[in-house]
Amino acid sequence: MKLVAGNWKMNGMRADGLALAAELVRRAREADGAEPVVCELLICPPATLLAMAHEALTGSGIALGGQDCHPAAKGAFTGDISAEMLADAGCRYVILGHSERRHGHGESNALIREKVAAARRAGLVPVLCVGETLAQRQAGEASAVVAAQLAGCLEDHDRVHELVVAYEPVWAIGTGLTPGLDDIRAMHAVIRSDLSPETRILYGGSVNPANAAAILGLPDVDGALVGGASLAADTFWAIARACG
Ligand code: PGA
Repeated sequence: MKLVAGNWKMNGMRADGLALAAELVRRAREADGAEPVVCELLICPPATLLAMAHEALTGSGIALGGQDCHPAAKGAFTGDISAEMLADAGCRYVILGHSERRHGHGESNALIREKVAAARRAGLVPVLCVGETLAQRQAGEASAVVAAQLAGCLEDHDRVHELVVAYEPVWAIGTGLTPGLDDIRAMHAVIRSDLSPETRILYGGSVNPANAAAILGLPDVDGALVGGASLAADTFWAIARACG
């Protein structure tokens, strides 16, 4: 089943976060009868909203995820959150290696590999993000960069356990730009060649209701990681509908 994941990033106060989660739950329940949504839904709110979102989502079938975790289970790491804490807050997934962490916080493949291990230890499913910059694409290095990120962030055993990989070209995130469908298909084929057939490979970067059906219809595109368009129920729902 395809996975449509909403990455709320650093957005949402308690009131609007709760309203958005509650509206998604309402739609999931309503759609359950006549027109079931044919994908799994996941929301990844900021840490401050996890406990509240977990409560709102209980029994809805919509999964909860964190946006990052620290490699250690606990300790003197001011400001960080462990994978165990995310699991304790009700998360099933955790986004790791997002380009906003790689570039904004200097995260290396080696660090992300430790975080993937932490997610496993805590029983979370990693949503590992990979993707090239515009300069790397223009230099013809996109596939090599993504292959190196996979090699650097995953152990062999990660490929046989439940895993989600999100291909997110850095230049497509939050810009309204997306690669051509042929480029998405080609990159997903490259990623698939490195992973098991069960691993879900999401596309992320400016997914919206207008482009979702075409992208989600490509081979080896097993869902979407959605940023901006996940912040409103209408647009997130329209993308989920595009799986059908
Ligand atoms: P976007 O973000 O949909 O706003 O481009 C995607 C992401 O960063 O996961």
